[in-house]
Amino acid sequence: MATLLVKNIGLLQTPTGNYSHKGAEQGENLKLKDAAIFIEDGIIKEITADGAIPAGGEDADMIVDAEGKLVTPGLVDGHTHMIFGGYRQHEIPMKIKGATYLDILKAGGGILDTVRKTRAASFEELYGKTEGFLDEMLGMGVTTCEAKSGYGLDLETEVKMLEVLKKLNEDHPVDVVTTFMGAHAIPEDYKTMENGADKFIELLCEEMLPYVKEHGLADYADIFCEEGVFDAPQSQKYLEKAKELGFKLRIHADEIEPMGGSVLAGEISAVSAEHLIAIDQAGLESMAKAGVTAMCLPATSFNLGVSFAPARKMIEMGIPVATASDFNPGSCPSLNLQFVMNLACLRYKLLPEEILTAVTINPACALGMGDKVGTLEVGKQGDLVIWDAPDMDFLCYRFGSNLALQTIKKGMLV
Ligand code: NIG
Ligand code: FE
Repeated sequence: MATLLVKNIGLLQTPTGNYSHKGAEQGENLKLKDAAIFIEDGIIKEITADGAIPAGGEDADMIVDAEGKLVTPGLVDGHTHMIFGGYRQHEIPMKIKGATYLDILKAGGGILDTVRKTRAASFEELYGKTEGFLDEMLGMGVTTCEAKSGYGLDLETEVKMLEVLKKLNEDHPVDVVTTFMGAHAIPEDYKTMENGADKFIELLCEEMLPYVKEHGLADYADIFCEEGVFDAPQSQKYLEKAKELGFKLRIHADEIEPMGGSVLAGEISAVSAEHLIAIDQAGLESMAKAGVTAMCLPATSFNLGVSFAPARKMIEMGIPVATASDFNPGSCPSLNLQFVMNLACLRYKLLPEEILTAVTINPACALGMGDKVGTLEVGKQGDLVIWDAPDMDFLCYRFGSNLALQTIKKGMLV
């Protein structure tokens, strides 16, 4: 039996429970002073406060002194496209000269450029590169993440991506939850066909979704509902098929143009809707009614130089809000979830307590992991971060640095 005691925690701050937090509860965190946590075989056994030490704590195999710092649950990054071939730094000068994200995509670049590079990459190349990203995340306090396919757009490459992610989930300390996103763009050969998008949706519904389900490669399905990509009726067709096959649903909705994606998210009971920068009142109401988690991605707004999703309003309307990196080679080449927290504070105007919920229990629930991670409570995984900060205010304020001093995953120092 491996045991770990983390003692001398100045402030232990965590949301509580196994469910998504909305409205006023989004801002409710448990705060314990002079706390300690005792972890046995990766699971939290006891948490104490006010200088008390858990039973058996002093005999633990390992004792870590938090030196009076802040401890929170390990962060959960609920939305990434972290597996891809190549990079797209060559888009930087194009963007500076005025090209928009959709201009580049329409011209056959953007996602389609990454598709060419991902198809050409071997399993081993993708494994090594993505493993490096997981290491980097872990060093910044992320202990669980979501990762999507979607740079293959053909069965072979989509499967390759998901198999790499499955293998990494087994091999790497970070828990990785996979999403099939074969509907990320219209492939080049379908673009030139008449009704190419409809034909590609047909292929996804009849071949790719059933294959991915049958081989247990992903629990979630996602689609990019956007101008020039898939419209709301096409998204509906794809998501209905995915639902019928037993996938849980996500949708990239209203990122750039309002296309009805967030209304559809509510109607179809998606687990989460992503981006939501251009969401309208009908979309907000549909999501609130159905309890869809808003996966807000402020570093993407920052990188694209566009406006920010109305996350403050979402909380007021009772929509559970999560904030994630959206790490990908195009719209957000950063996996720094701490920077996302800074932006959630500075741009969304969320309070530090609401932000902690948005990077822990709410995304954990959107990944189907709310009973295992996302809070520090007895019975959950011993996933936590010791921060070089006295409190959450400091973490939200000192942007640009990595303040994670020590990440602990399932009771192991990583
Ligand atoms: O979430 N919006 C669609 N997909 C990604 C971007 C992917 C890319 O540009 O490579 C996103 O922002
Ligand atoms: Fe995305």
